[in-house]
Amino acid sequence: MSRVAYVNGRYVPHNKAQVSIDDRGHVFADGVYEVTLVVGGRMIDLEGHVARLERSLRELDMPQPMSSRALIHIMNQTIKRNRVKDGMVYLQVNRGTAPRNHVYDNDDLQPSVVCTAKSVPLPSDADAVDGVKVISQPDIRWGRVDIKTVSLLPNALAKTAAAKEGAYEAFLVDDDGYVTECSASNAWIVDKDGRVVTRPLSNEILPGITRDRVIKLAEENGIEVVERPFTLAEAKSAREAFLTSTTSFVKPVTQIDDVTIGNGHPGTVTRTLLGAYLNFIREIRQPAT
Ligand code: PDD
Repeated sequence: MSRVAYVNGRYVPHNKAQVSIDDRGHVFADGVYEVTLVVGGRMIDLEGHVARLERSLRELDMPQPMSSRALIHIMNQTIKRNRVKDGMVYLQVNRGTAPRNHVYDNDDLQPSVVCTAKSVPLPSDADAVDGVKVISQPDIRWGRVDIKTVSLLPNALAKTAAAKEGAYEAFLVDDDGYVTECSASNAWIVDKDGRVVTRPLSNEILPGITRDRVIKLAEENGIEVVERPFTLAEAKSAREAFLTSTTSFVKPVTQIDDVTIGNGHPGTVTRTLLGAYLNFIREIRQPAT
């Protein structure tokens, strides 16, 4: 079956989907996006994604292209038309199309809305997930990475550097040696007392929807969460490390640069949280009858 994309009011074959070369998303990365997990055809933590999109638009002085209800309808339609059961749906809103000029006038612009969806297999269970290697990279991004913009060049460079070293992700490190987050996920460690540690929300990290969910699941499972910055050195000597995102779920990190974390296998706290997360999304997939 060929893929279908939504572009500005029409569902078109994915390979025919186009926006203008004058679209400000193309010229200035003047756009925002959301990636939402789909399980059993239903979107997971949709409220959080919609709230974050609304906030991203507000923070960048972009008008809502249409009501959030209408955007959700487009996302659901795109999921259905692509017959996605388990996978992800991608929604992007750009400020609009105009001859190249740094200065924008929202009154003269019609936002572009693009939506795609694709299938991605879910892990069968927490024990089936292997640990991954990450490398450290300097965090060279701008000062408002709490906004989910499509301006992702530093992220793409960091993740490509990781891939070239056979690593899954990059831990981004600020000028003071503290880990901010990863190129496309949030970073976590487990301290010697079994507490999970992750950087507090600020303009220096994306407020991950999975991060938020994992904090709730940790508390439900009696695991203490501490929101504080941690250094790269602390991460390297941590008992466990992991990362979270919509598409990575809870991913055990078993190597940072050349250092093995713990015994080199996913740790118990990480596996507990991954198991809880997989249960959470499976319950949504099979609602109680
Ligand atoms: N990335 N930090 C960054 C920089 C991210 O790009 C992402 C998500 C996250 C995790 O957020 P969430 O849990 O809401 O997915 C943290 C998405 C998946 C992407 O760009 O593909």
